[in-house]
Amino acid sequence: MLLRLHKFSLQLSSSTSWQSTKEGMFYFPCYCSPSLFLGLYLLLKPPGLQALVSQKPNVVIFMADDLGIGDIGCYGNNTIRTPNIDRLAKEGVKLTHHIAAAPLCTPSRTAFLTGRYPIRSGMADFGGIRVLQWTGGSGGLPPNETAFTRILQKQGYTNGLIGKWHQGVNCEYRNDHCHHPLKHGFDYFYGMPFSMMGDCQITQPPEMAAPLRTRLWFYTQWIALAVLSLVAAKLTHLVPLSWKTVFLLAFFGLLFFVSWFSSYGFIRYWNCVVMRNYEITEQPMKVERTASLMLREAISFIERNQHGPFFLFVSFLHVHTPLVTTGNFTGKSNHGLYGDNVEEMDWMIGRILNALDNQGLRNNTLVYFASDHGGHLEAQQGNVQLGGWNGIFKGGKAMGGWEGGIRVPGLFRWPGILPEGTAIDEPTSLMDIYPTLVHLAGGTIPQDRVIDGRNLMPLLQGCVKYSEHEFMFHYCGAYLHAVRWHQKESGNVWKAHYVTPVFQPDGAGGCYELRFCPCSGEGVTHHDPPLLFDLSRDPSEAMPLSPDTEAVFHAVLSRIDKAVDEHRRTLSPVPQQLSLNNILWKPWLQPCCGMFPFCWCDKENDANL
Ligand SMILES: *[C@@H]1O[C@H](CO)[C@@H](O)[C@H](O)[C@H]1NC(C)=O
Ligand SMILES: *[C@@H]1O[C@H](CO)[C@@H](O)[C@H](O)[C@H]1NC(C)=O
Ligand SMILES: *[C@@H]1O[C@H](CO)[C@@H](O)[C@H](O)[C@H]1NC(C)=O
Repeated sequence: MLLRLHKFSLQLSSSTSWQSTKEGMFYFPCYCSPSLFLGLYLLLKPPGLQALVSQKPNVVIFMADDLGIGDIGCYGNNTIRTPNIDRLAKEGVKLTHHIAAAPLCTPSRTAFLTGRYPIRSGMADFGGIRVLQWTGGSGGLPPNETAFTRILQKQGYTNGLIGKWHQGVNCEYRNDHCHHPLKHGFDYFYGMPFSMMGDCQITQPPEMAAPLRTRLWFYTQWIALAVLSLVAAKLTHLVPLSWKTVFLLAFFGLLFFVSWFSSYGFIRYWNCVVMRNYEITEQPMKVERTASLMLREAISFIERNQHGPFFLFVSFLHVHTPLVTTGNFTGKSNHGLYGDNVEEMDWMIGRILNALDNQGLRNNTLVYFASDHGGHLEAQQGNVQLGGWNGIFKGGKAMGGWEGGIRVPGLFRWPGILPEGTAIDEPTSLMDIYPTLVHLAGGTIPQDRVIDGRNLMPLLQGCVKYSEHEFMFHYCGAYLHAVRWHQKESGNVWKAHYVTPVFQPDGAGGCYELRFCPCSGEGVTHHDPPLLFDLSRDPSEAMPLSPDTEAVFHAVLSRIDKAVDEHRRTLSPVPQQLSLNNILWKPWLQPCCGMFPFCWCDKENDANL
């Protein structure tokens, strides 16, 4: 007991080392200062606290997919109903300056799991395809990255992932599962190895299939032409090839064609897959029941592991299009299908929080809620908005620099340890979860690599004023688009944009013609000098500063340039997980629950949903 207590040192900034909340409840003093007041603690020893500190906390993380910061009540939305998420804010700490490391799912989640900028693990792309496209591709979270779950596992945690993964499956052959959650420190996985997509719901317009259809036609023509010319050349003795070579070439041409063709219309079979651990339970999945199944799985994971410590990562398929929502919620919100989907997700969170309460785990569980990045402005069908709302912030999903792409909700609740109903405006990152949880589990972060996240406990508990992040680097793919400098002494939060996307139509606030803003090439503008904003005065990035309006303009930019140089020196080349070769669909890697290519099954028991 004593040994453990050393970690939970006390602070004597207030007259007693215990700070009381309005309700007269105690919360645990800071971990951060030396344990000088252990004696005082032992003297005061508020009831119930011993149990708290003698155990490692359980951790439940809720991560929404594509949810905008302006979509929830506690961040200022007064027309959408998110009572359960709002309750977390009321009972815990709300971060108002919480930043995702990337504006798209795959890289943002990699950064979250590894505590590192995605460029360090090869999950930041140079080419243009910025997320994994197929469950049958070879890219993914590299086996030599250490997700925080691996460290938690070593510290005695049982880790469960329910929902979306989107970090790859196989490397070299079907079922090598080199990128699978169970190879990255999870003990249990139920959900999609990929991501919810328009292609998964038959009634929705296809998302990935659409560009493929036109490209398919193009490839078909060329392959047919190539095969015909080859045979003609052989017949007329124009080329000195043996029939064997001709057949071989024709065969590969055909194989290539079949790969393209089989993806066409088969995307549901290839990507809309649900797994339990290594076993495929549904291929293709029946999207209408997935939310109920996930809920059942999450609650039963909590019940099975009530004696803890456990880590449960609820990685929602909500609120990514196609916005599959169950009957109880459709047509109920003020914001169409999108609002319905947000409200359903909130309800699911409430159910899971209730499960914690029912097991008596509320006080011994750290709960965290966030979104993987900003809302998708360009997700629209006609005039109907299907993507999220980023409040006062400019831009959205896929935009690496503009605040709307990366500023996300961040809520922490841990009754008795974290203060209730507080808000923290300091810049924080999703990458901070890594060292925070490693610290709480009593582990140590890897020393052989750079970890970009910082332990949040001192900040959350109110024992330090400033976050440890001075500079944050905002990448779009592998391209550095912007840098944030939190100048502590002055309170300014400067942001310099080196590159910004070209909005189309002009001034529309998004890339409505392309659906996603690009990171490089024709679709971006380079700024020299960079566009400079002060977020502390201008959070919407509406008024770029100039040497005339801002006395320290040049000084700020040169300090930021220096930080970029220092940051770049910490990067080293790594294998590219999103290279064309790693992105391509490879039939021999396709997870398949039958005899390939006949992959279909439904092993789910939905009798009592
Ligand atoms: C609330 O969220 C909806 C749905 O995204 C959005 O249309 C609306 O503008 C938001 N309202 C406020 C006040 O932010
Ligand atoms: C949980 O913590 C709160 C706040 O510290 C306290 O009021 C409550 O009694 C605790 N509940 C249990 C079951 O220990
Ligand atoms: C993982 O392996 C790659 C390729 O060998 C290497 O470049 C990279 O530095 C390794 N990463 C870590 C974190 O060790």
